Amino acid sequence: MAAFRMDGVTVVDHPLVAHKLSIMRAKETSTARFRQLLREISTLLCYEVTRDLPLEPYPVETPVGPTTGQKIEGKKLVFVPILRAGLGLVEGMLDLVPSARVGHVGLYREPETLDAVEYYFRAPEDVADRLCVVIDPMLATANTAVAAIERLKERGVTNLRFVCLVASPEGLERLRGWHPDVPVWAAAVDERLNDHGYIVPGLGDAGDRLFGTR
Ligand code: URA
Repeated sequence: MAAFRMDGVTVVDHPLVAHKLSIMRAKETSTARFRQLLREISTLLCYEVTRDLPLEPYPVETPVGPTTGQKIEGKKLVFVPILRAGLGLVEGMLDLVPSARVGHVGLYREPETLDAVEYYFRAPEDVADRLCVVIDPMLATANTAVAAIERLKERGVTNLRFVCLVASPEGLERLRGWHPDVPVWAAAVDERLNDHGYIVPGLGDAGDRLFGTR
């Protein structure tokens, strides 16, 4: 398949990501393995989504003498998983950025219409001053991603990024259409959505596979 290209979309085409994602796609992969691989891939996605964060210098005293260190500028960033499958990406991201804050947006897809319905929202009080990285393994119709970002914007957030594992071309079009200011990172862009709003070939229901439900 030709490399997918769209403005504002970064496909993280790293061999480790491709290897791990292929195992996750296989229907016989166990819940434990799926969960572990999602955590591992999320660290790699986190590495990429933070690649251009601005640094500021500060003085450091080594055992030998003074030098200038670098630290990430500004307030601690916020990871915002979309419940529930987004939770599978949180621990891996916190492994790399342990001081990040974590907000939560609870949204489910209404089965008939596939519309996003909110049932939970919690974010740091000063969320508007921080970079928010919204995370969800599957960007399918993008209804939930669009709604989660809308909600954060209502709280005054202006610096947003979106990270997913598998995206559909339709979902990317929709998300970029509604929120062109929000860049997206994905491990893969698949062929299409089916009539039930599932990504083809995808990996099935990410929440069910992560938590062993059905
Ligand atoms: N959500 C999932 O978990 N999988 C899909 O394919 C689409 C939405």
